[in-house]
Amino acid sequence: MDISIIGSGYVGLVTGACFADVGHHVICVDNDQRKVDALQSGQIPIYEPGLEEVVHRNVSAGQLAFTNNIEYGVGHSQIVFIAVPTPPQPDGSVDLTYIERVAREIAEVLKDYRVIVDKSTVPVKTGEKVAETIRRYNKGGIDFDVVSNPEFLREGCAVSDLMNPDRIVIGSNSERALTLMKKVYEPFMAPIMVTDINSAELIKHAANSFLALKISYINAISTICEATGADVEMVAEGIGADKRIGRSFLNAGIGYGGSCFPKDVAAFIAISEQLGAPLALLREVQRVNKLQRERFIKKIKDTLWVLKDKRIAVWGLTFKPDTDDVRNSVAIDLVNDLLSEGAIVRAYDPKGMEKVVELKLCEGVMLTRSALEAAENAEALVLATEWREFQAIDFEQVRKIMHTPIVFDGRNLFDPRTMRRLGFTYHGIGRGIVG
Ligand code: UDX
Repeated sequence: MDISIIGSGYVGLVTGACFADVGHHVICVDNDQRKVDALQSGQIPIYEPGLEEVVHRNVSAGQLAFTNNIEYGVGHSQIVFIAVPTPPQPDGSVDLTYIERVAREIAEVLKDYRVIVDKSTVPVKTGEKVAETIRRYNKGGIDFDVVSNPEFLREGCAVSDLMNPDRIVIGSNSERALTLMKKVYEPFMAPIMVTDINSAELIKHAANSFLALKISYINAISTICEATGADVEMVAEGIGADKRIGRSFLNAGIGYGGSCFPKDVAAFIAISEQLGAPLALLREVQRVNKLQRERFIKKIKDTLWVLKDKRIAVWGLTFKPDTDDVRNSVAIDLVNDLLSEGAIVRAYDPKGMEKVVELKLCEGVMLTRSALEAAENAEALVLATEWREFQAIDFEQVRKIMHTPIVFDGRNLFDPRTMRRLGFTYHGIGRGIVG
């Protein structure tokens, strides 16, 4: 199939690369000339395991190309995917400016039947607006169909998520569009769910909000564990073993972050309120998430007392491991909380430090070349992102180089008993008497 994808951000680029890898001809269109130049010269703007290799392989094979010319992209494809950002507005609702602009631009260059697919995360009923806009701005009255096809990939494992999806949701009211969409996804051999457009849009917001709810639920349980001496890890195993619940997304910590959950929960609340069916439950999800970081800071303060001039090492800055994405990272918020208390923070992250500097996210933090360098002479160590490499560190050595061996584990990465045996004062999340 000939496919174009408008927007070469996270979703657009990974989708384009994977579509090309299964044999489609893909043109990625982006209006940022610098990004297009970089991609054409083989530079990948994001760190995502496996992505660089897939992009290079398919560019060399002539399956994948980059351009800033939307007319060329739309002209040379049967299906046009929209994968542009849908950033949040101050009130939590979604800014649909980019979607509207792309819909107009497509309309202006549309000369033959095309399927226009919305892959960006959008509020329910956006598909209807996209169709209305294209109809209004297309002078030739050309036939087209709008489809909603939400993306469920996670950063850090985006390529494998896209290549092995749990399900593919296609929201469409046209048999013609559906036939073409099924051809796009045939090589992935995954279950395809066909719905109406509104349901497909709703599935994305409802899925992300449910996952956020699961995290806030276990985080709320972690406070009960701390109050009673129970261990949240054991509780998560116990409830997660019930197939109806499942163990994933029951990892207690300092809260969820990233460019999706905070934005999507806020957007879902906003649209539910606009529709007169407010999802008050999700406000509690947000409250618990914020509280989790505040409780963690309080734990640090209760132990270290005054934070001013205290030397604190922070391991991990990205919003989760295996990515260089530091947007809406709870780890960054945590570093800024510590800095605002006057602490001297030395931080290390395997992939995120360049972006921290570029985006000026933690002014005043000292970034180090290794995890050990950050821990040197520190009065406490804070684990904020659970990178695997931190688990492999020699803690005998960490204890020797720290000024005082106190560890605050914000992601329950370490085993409390082992840490204690090694001579550390250990504080996890909801680890009760063992922590
Ligand atoms: C999420 C959805 O998982 C994905 O389907 C959607 O397409 C985009 O949004 P992503 O934001 O990349 O993906 O990461 P995810 O792995 O879901 O983690 C989000 C946040 O939740 C991270 O900050 C992570 O640390 C936190 N988290 C996750 C927990 O605190 N506990 C958990 O058990 C799982």
